[in-house]
Amino acid sequence: MTSRQALNRARELLANHKIEDASLEAELLLRHTLKIDRTQFYTEPDRMLTKQQEETYWQFVERRIKGEPSAYITGHREFFGLDFYVDKNALIPRPETELLVEQAIAHAGKYLNPLIVDVGTGCGNIAISLAARLPQAKIYAIDISEAALKVASRNCLKHQVADRVKLLVGNLLESATTPVDLIIANLPYVLTADVPQVNTSGFEPHLALDGGLDGMNVIKKLCLQAKDKLQPAGCLLLEIGVGQSKIVADFLQNLYPSANIVFMSDFNGIERVVCMTLPKH
Ligand SMILES: C[S@@+](CC[C@H](N)C(=O)[O-])C[C@H]1O[C@@H](n2cnc3c(N)ncnc32)[C@H](O)[C@@H]1O
Repeated sequence: MTSRQALNRARELLANHKIEDASLEAELLLRHTLKIDRTQFYTEPDRMLTKQQEETYWQFVERRIKGEPSAYITGHREFFGLDFYVDKNALIPRPETELLVEQAIAHAGKYLNPLIVDVGTGCGNIAISLAARLPQAKIYAIDISEAALKVASRNCLKHQVADRVKLLVGNLLESATTPVDLIIANLPYVLTADVPQVNTSGFEPHLALDGGLDGMNVIKKLCLQAKDKLQPAGCLLLEIGVGQSKIVADFLQNLYPSANIVFMSDFNGIERVVCMTLPKH
């Protein structure tokens, strides 16, 4: 079978099973099987697949039909221009989280050698993107899941930032001993009842998404803990869910009456990032 024939057959199978973007997914899995890039793929459409390649490809297609996200099948997801290893122990990074990283980079410019903590690091996408862009920064990356930290560790090595990203297992900021300039967090904020709608495949870790009854459990705890962990003039940056900005703003303003609080919207116009800056003294 040629790669063109395999692609057409897989596209049809995926579409019949209501997999969105069947063409793209079929191509992604085939390129992963053949270990080739897009250019090679399109310049040699009639390349013959070996028996082994055919077998591997249909196994991948079968897994995709059963609902496994292609990022877990291929072990890759791009985030902030970098390639991250992902598996079922860590959430697949979402494009909207890039806004959080952009804001962190902008704020980090205020500090000489920024000390940063990324809470709920998952595969390490936020911490590692920051380390790549901010050579002067020292970053703690915390997660309560040891399995997720193993994924993050692999990515730190892959991107050669293991000397500046220190991985810590712990509940929110409990394992962070020194106050930092910047706390950045994309924590679980989905209402328990809504988790199945977000984790449509059922393959992503529940712990990464479930924010409790109103979605705010984990975020509120972090806001409280940040009291002892932020330097004067320090900054707390959080990713939040749809309709949560007012609740977070009121909660933070009560806890930190003199802080400045602003929101940033994502490409869908949803207030997605909250930024709280403490006064200098
Ligand atoms: C929404 S995922 C974000 C993963 C990654 N930072 C990203 O942006 O794709 C939330 C992460 O927070 C972690 N987490 C959940 N509760 C936590 C807690 N109490 N303390 C530390 N990490 C926690 C989960 O294990 C998960 O890796």
